[in-house]
Amino acid sequence: MKVAFGIGVAVLACGAAFAQGAPRSVWDGVYSAEQAARGKTAYDGSCAKCHGESLAGAEMAPALSGASFLDNWNGIPVADLVERIRTTMPADNPGSLSRRAATDIAAYILSANQVPAGSADLPGDAQIQGMFRIDARKPGQ
Ligand code: HEC
Repeated sequence: MKVAFGIGVAVLACGAAFAQGAPRSVWDGVYSAEQAARGKTAYDGSCAKCHGESLAGAEMAPALSGASFLDNWNGIPVADLVERIRTTMPADNPGSLSRRAATDIAAYILSANQVPAGSADLPGDAQIQGMFRIDARKPGQ
């Protein structure tokens, strides 16, 4: 009984902490149009040769837009997508991108998936990016 009570309190305390740094959806406008434009330039230079100019994928490289891409990343913080790009891509030169560049490219990928821009850049900080969740579809729709 005592143990169960303790767990209950811990869950409640966790819930409160969670609410403070409440995760936001990428659909809330988490990047700027200017940032996505910078990301497009970087994408065209480093990624398009494998993933295609329209992000549709080609041969071995999967699509970075469309339902299957979004379903892959559904519920995952945008920080993980940035980290995936920064540490493993471009596949022919991994680790060559700065966190800033990988963040701009992630913003471009969001824009190409019809996720709307907001007024400010997506910050490069991994902890802040961790609070923004990729949802395959706009929440509530
Ligand atoms: C030389 C070809 C090549 C280049 C250049 C390249 N990629 Fe990839 N990418 C791949 C391949 C192949 C995979 C799948 C295998 C893997 O995960 O490594 C992949 C996987 C990915 C994934 C995971 C997709 C998913 O849904 O899980 C992302 C995101 C990605 N690439 C982004 C990028 C970005 C952004 C760039 C440019 C900075 C880039 N790639 C450049 C070949 C490439």
